[in-house]
Amino acid sequence: MSQTPKFTLSNRLSRLKPSPTLQLAARARELKEQGIDVLDFSGGEPDFRTPEEVGEAAIKAIRDGFTKYTAVGGISELKEAIVAKFERDQKITYTPKDIVVSCGAKHSLFQIFQALVNPGDQVLLPSPAWVSYPDQIYLNGGEPVFVPCREEDGFRLTPEAVEAAITPRSKILVLNSPNNPTGAVIGQRALEGIGELALKHNLLVISDEIYEKIVYDNHRSISIATLDPRLKESTIIVNGVSKTYSMTGWRIGYAAGPREIMQAVDSIQSQTTSNPTSISQKAAAFALSSGDRFFLPMLSAYGKRREAVVEALNQVPGITCKKPDGAFYAFLNISGLLGKSYRGHPLLNVYELAEFFLDVAKVTIVPGAPFGNDHHMRMSFAASLSVLQAGIDRIRDAVSRMD
Ligand SMILES: Cc1ncc(COP(=O)(O)O)c(C=O)c1O
Repeated sequence: MSQTPKFTLSNRLSRLKPSPTLQLAARARELKEQGIDVLDFSGGEPDFRTPEEVGEAAIKAIRDGFTKYTAVGGISELKEAIVAKFERDQKITYTPKDIVVSCGAKHSLFQIFQALVNPGDQVLLPSPAWVSYPDQIYLNGGEPVFVPCREEDGFRLTPEAVEAAITPRSKILVLNSPNNPTGAVIGQRALEGIGELALKHNLLVISDEIYEKIVYDNHRSISIATLDPRLKESTIIVNGVSKTYSMTGWRIGYAAGPREIMQAVDSIQSQTTSNPTSISQKAAAFALSSGDRFFLPMLSAYGKRREAVVEALNQVPGITCKKPDGAFYAFLNISGLLGKSYRGHPLLNVYELAEFFLDVAKVTIVPGAPFGNDHHMRMSFAASLSVLQAGIDRIRDAVSRMD
């Protein structure tokens, strides 16, 4: 007779939740496999193909037999391309020794938290925040402290909000500008104020700049590390090729920062994944050396979609949406829909609304609650204009059937 094995999972998993955005995307995929025509706006990935020439660089790597272990933190060619990118785009000087390349920016972030967070340390996290930060912080024994970013301020982080959240246990401040899910870009003045606070309170800053290039109108991505040499010494910049070059599946992210921290990150990686895929590294080196020629046409398409999506969403009764400063998400305020009902069932929260949109409109948009906001939902506009239009038509139609 077989016995049920007795085991307990580690305590550190007690607060872990699977990524809600990936869960919703998985449900959409399941429905599609059943032949149901679902329009999926849940994902955080560009809809463009990886540029052909980037693919060619990877194929060449395979043909050349570049398929073995590499240096743990990345090949010199890629690190040099990253150093050149920092110099070219942001006028920040790093050396290859200050950089570790990992299996996606998500991996970079996890290892940085692992290297820095002790039990009980507080990590200041502007909220709404990307869903993976709190779980990564919990997994490493830390305590996220949410710093509210208000819709009235365009969801932009203010020095006042940071200051109000600082305690003697604050160790790290996470910045994510442009932000996922709100698209908010922190302006120069506010960033200077935040930088002063970081210096005054001895905070390490993790600046997740993965959406750096995707900014609209007059908004500019500024890295806090550029504001003062002392801030460069206390900031770890995280970036990657996923969003800029439509290379999500290649899994290449990187971090640059104080040498001692980067050496610790390299050691963690040496005992866990070892190097990121050799072939992807060659492709990423090629992409990063290409300047903006692959990226600019994508940015122009995102810009047109942003205009169209925001305008169309604002015409749906019960929904309002501000233009995001950057990234490729519309963060829609759905307060006007909460409390309505469908066929006698009240729709009381954003999760129920997400279910409703999936069941009735066959559209996936992500509830804002796991990002820290229960009156908003996130709709990615990394999809063609015609698909976006069709999706919003379905949303409008479904809303018109609410009581
Ligand atoms: C804010 C933010 N940081 C990091 C990542 C991770 O990117 P990747 O691991 O694909 O490099 C994402 C992806 O959605 C993100 O939205």
